[in-house]
Amino acid sequence: MTLTSELIWQDQQHQVLFELIDEIKADNVDVSIFVRLNDYAEHHFCLEEAYMKALDYPDYEAHLSAHNKFRSELQKMLDDHHNYDQQLRDMLSDFLGEWLKRHIFGVDKKLEAYILNSSVK
Ligand SMILES: [Fe+2]
Ligand SMILES: [Fe+2]
Repeated sequence: MTLTSELIWQDQQHQVLFELIDEIKADNVDVSIFVRLNDYAEHHFCLEEAYMKALDYPDYEAHLSAHNKFRSELQKMLDDHHNYDQQLRDMLSDFLGEWLKRHIFGVDKKLEAYILNSSVK
């Protein structure tokens, strides 16, 4: 077995999330991008949460509420604005991208280290 210094699944899923968030800025984007982003984020968050539960992760509650914050921001976007102009889409994309960067380099890094130090990967 080879030891890796990073969690491949976590890294790859973050990459997809960034790509989806970038797509919000594209020309002719419609509300389906928010639906796809929502579905993928849900899939990713649920996986991290499953690992945290399985490992009795000490910061579970704080990490979960960070995910819930993203969930509710995204839900607001889905509910409130069906006609996004370019300026608004740029703003939403930047906002979600910044949030994700902070989350990944903060609490997700801690979780990654914790999982790598455990017997479950
Ligand atoms: Fe997370
Ligand atoms: Fe994550």
